[in-house]
Amino acid sequence: MHFDVLTIFPELFTSFRSTGVLGRAVEASLIGIDVHDLRDWADNRWRQLDDEAYGGGPGMVLQAGPAIAAVRQLEGDHGPGRTVLLSPRGRVLDQALVAELAHEDRLCLLCGRYEGFDERVSAILGPDEVSIGDFVLGGGEVAAMVVVEAVARLVPGVVGDPASVASDSFTAGLLDHPSYTRPVEVEGWPVPEVLRSGDHERIARWRLERSVEATVTRRPDMIKDNWARYPAEVRALVRRYAPELDPERR
Ligand code: ADE
Repeated sequence: MHFDVLTIFPELFTSFRSTGVLGRAVEASLIGIDVHDLRDWADNRWRQLDDEAYGGGPGMVLQAGPAIAAVRQLEGDHGPGRTVLLSPRGRVLDQALVAELAHEDRLCLLCGRYEGFDERVSAILGPDEVSIGDFVLGGGEVAAMVVVEAVARLVPGVVGDPASVASDSFTAGLLDHPSYTRPVEVEGWPVPEVLRSGDHERIARWRLERSVEATVTRRPDMIKDNWARYPAEVRALVRRYAPELDPERR
């Protein structure tokens, strides 16, 4: 998987692309992250990309020409890929969209600032517009990092222990179970006995129960959305903890 990021603040990505799991994946050439300064495609010697909005109002708009030229040049250099424009107006990112994006060989991530890009970037390039949630950031850079981090985890080899990639079909659509490490007691709170029993079957069962319990109490909306993919054991647990959430109940 190769990521090309287009931004007016490339320095924001310096430590991001070289640290931790992502840094190791880049080192091992499992993924590539190239960050490009959009100003390199500016059409004036001041490298200015923003201009006033037609119709007036506060805030500047990023010109269409440089962004379109940048995406086309990268496509010419590296072959076609999917272009993702980060915007609060986009489709809200979830694990299904992350998995879809992870199938691509190349993603070109366009980061807006100010009032965003001139609308003709969308009209002409037809990018996937993606939002990371219903709130407004100062720009698309942090959102692009979210996309890179979530997608990269699904690239084989990036996460050392594949079992910890939660796209595991059994627990997909459930919140994670709670985790504990040493010491055995913190301020009078012990680690649940079952986790120290060494009985792997009991531990797996306990973890699945805690996952279902957390999901029905914290995110009941996820139950309805994911019902079709739950195995029978998960459905039975949902019926036990929150029978009213069973969509097959009459
Ligand atoms: N740019 C500004 N806000 C954003 C958001 N919520 N998601 C993606 N890009 C953004």
